[in-house]
Amino acid sequence: MKRTTRLAATALAGAAALTLTACGGAGTAGGDGGSGTTMRLALNQTEEHPSYTALENFGERFSETTGGRWAIDVFPNETLGAQQEALQLVGDGTVDMAIVSGTQLENLNEDFLVFNLPEVFDSVEHQMSVVHDEKIVGDLYASLEESNGVTVLGGLTQGSRSIYTTSGPVETPADLAGQKLRVQESDLHVAMAEAMGASATPMAFGELYTGLQSGVVDAAENNEVSYFTQKHFEVAPYWSSTNHLVGLDYLVVNTDRLAEMSQEDRAALDAEWTAAHEEHTELWASATEDAIAEAEAGGATFSEVDEEAFSAALEPLADQFIESDTQQTLFDAARAAAE
Ligand code: GCU
Repeated sequence: MKRTTRLAATALAGAAALTLTACGGAGTAGGDGGSGTTMRLALNQTEEHPSYTALENFGERFSETTGGRWAIDVFPNETLGAQQEALQLVGDGTVDMAIVSGTQLENLNEDFLVFNLPEVFDSVEHQMSVVHDEKIVGDLYASLEESNGVTVLGGLTQGSRSIYTTSGPVETPADLAGQKLRVQESDLHVAMAEAMGASATPMAFGELYTGLQSGVVDAAENNEVSYFTQKHFEVAPYWSSTNHLVGLDYLVVNTDRLAEMSQEDRAALDAEWTAAHEEHTELWASATEDAIAEAEAGGATFSEVDEEAFSAALEPLADQFIESDTQQTLFDAARAAAE
């Protein structure tokens, strides 16, 4: 889709979101006058992204297992708002569920920053085993219920993140000198960009295509799947495989909405969510391969970097940012699971 069309679609979607907001929380399942409840789920990815596929299937299965008592309606493309706003809307119950990046949760409880550190996770499999281990994450995931009205159910991987630029490939951190690198809205990721030699510009995901196109930023960092599905390769065709971070998204749900579920329906939600993140992990590897092939066909080039130079630059971040015993315990538990 051309950018102008995308923007027009976003404007329309924004209007739709306002209408929804005016209507308040969850609606009637199926819109057929049935007595079930439909929960709205905010997502900032396109319909081509594996998160959309896995979440759509999650919703269908949950509706089936509960005999239509519950349904989930997935709104892609930031139509219910960018992540920062979507998270607030889930907290106040206007929206029932959202997928938000770990960087957003770090802004509500700094303990979450541990899982946003470069090099905390060695692989997608390692990450998924940690973030779905109740013994490690139980308290963390319940920590936002009283303060913010949201419960964290678990994570979807963002895969391995690398840098891409508008002007040419990057081999070492020195090549990023003077380049404005877009990062997510997180102090840790601002420091991460600076450690990699760039100057950091925090920005919402949905603004990035025009940000790169207009030169507000020169570079960004993400996984291959978002690089392709967001069409960033059109405006920043130089991908450099820094693999500096295995990123993490979370499924957050309005805590009061969860409390409305019978025990049986809540158990069904948990079981279908487990199936959903497992399906997502399975889809991830082939989605990544497809994204690389499609971006290359669209003119992008993929280059290797001096990975050791990048990891040496990033290594001090853990010590710099881990301040409390809780953070240290989370970090140690994650690292222990890697060995
Ligand atoms: C990934 C991630 C998103 C996040 C985005 C970003 O695509 O899945 O949740 O918003 O990165 O860089 O903002």
